[in-house]
Amino acid sequence: MSAGRPRFIPPLDLRPPPGPGEEPVVWFQMPDGLEVGLRPIHPEDREALSEGFRALSDDSRYHRFLTPLPRLTDAQARYLTEIDQINHFAWGIGLRDPGGGLRGIGVARYVRESADAEAAEIAVAITDEHQGRGLGSLLVRALAVVAQTHGITRLTGVVLAENRAMIRIFEKLGGTTRSSGAGLVRADAVLGGQGLCNLGDAACTELVRVADRAAHPSNRHRGPDGA
Ligand SMILES: CC(C)(COP(=O)(O)OP(=O)(O)OC[C@H]1O[C@@H](n2cnc3c(N)ncnc32)[C@H](O)[C@@H]1OP(=O)(O)O)[C@@H](O)C(=O)NCCC(=O)NCCS
Repeated sequence: MSAGRPRFIPPLDLRPPPGPGEEPVVWFQMPDGLEVGLRPIHPEDREALSEGFRALSDDSRYHRFLTPLPRLTDAQARYLTEIDQINHFAWGIGLRDPGGGLRGIGVARYVRESADAEAAEIAVAITDEHQGRGLGSLLVRALAVVAQTHGITRLTGVVLAENRAMIRIFEKLGGTTRSSGAGLVRADAVLGGQGLCNLGDAACTELVRVADRAAHPSNRHRGPDGA
C-alpha cells in the first residue's frame, strides 16, 4: 500500500504564485515529496505527447495500447489532443519546469462509450521513471471527479491481466475485474463508491473548476474563488 495521500496545494499557497493569465494548474504534493501539477490536455500538446510516447519503454507502450506501437501517427496524436473536454477529457501531469509551465510525465483520459453514455473507458500512462509513486492513482481519481460532472457514472478499462498496478487502481475505486480471455481483463468501477475522491473537497472543487474552464472557454475569466 502507498504511504499517505497526495496533498492538494491551494493556489494561494503556491510559491511562486501563478502569474497573471497563466494557464491554471492544480498542484499536489505526493507522499514522497514530489510536487506535480495537473492540467487539461489541449491541441498544443500534440508534439509533447508524441515525444512522451516515444520516451516510454516498449513494455509501458504495450501495456497502454495493448499492441506493439513504436510511435504515434499524426492522426493518433491529433485524436489524443484535439478533444472536446466533455466526452473525451484528459489530464496531463507534470513537474514544474524552471522555464515556466509543466514538464509532462503522464496523461490519463476518459472517452465516453458510444453504446452507454453513462460509461467511459479510461487509459493512463506515466513515464517509466515516475511509475509506482502514486501518480496513476492520483490521475484516475482526478479523472473520476471530472467524469462525474459530465454524467458519467461508470469507468471501464481493458487491461493486460499482468498489469497489477492498473488493476489495483480500479480496485481502489471499488471496481471489479473479470477475465475477457487472451490475457486481458475488463475492469469496471461504479463512481460514487468506495474511495472515489479522497483528495479532499478543496482539491475536487479546484479540479472541477479547471476542467470546466477547458470545456467552456467562456468561463476562462473565473478565478479560484469563482469571481
Ligand atoms: C499502470 C500505471 C498507469 C499505474 O500508475 P502508477 O503511478 O505507476 O501507479 P501507482 O503508483 O498509483 O500505483 C497504483 C497501485 O498499484 C500498486 N502497484 C504498483 N505496481 C504494482 C505491481 N507491480 N504489482 C502489484 N501492485 C502494484 C501500487 O502499490 C498502488 O497500490 P496502493 O495504492 O494500494 O499501494 C503506470 O504504471 C503506467 O503508466 N504503466 C504503463 C501504461 C499502462 O499500463 N497503462 C494502463 C493501461 S491503460
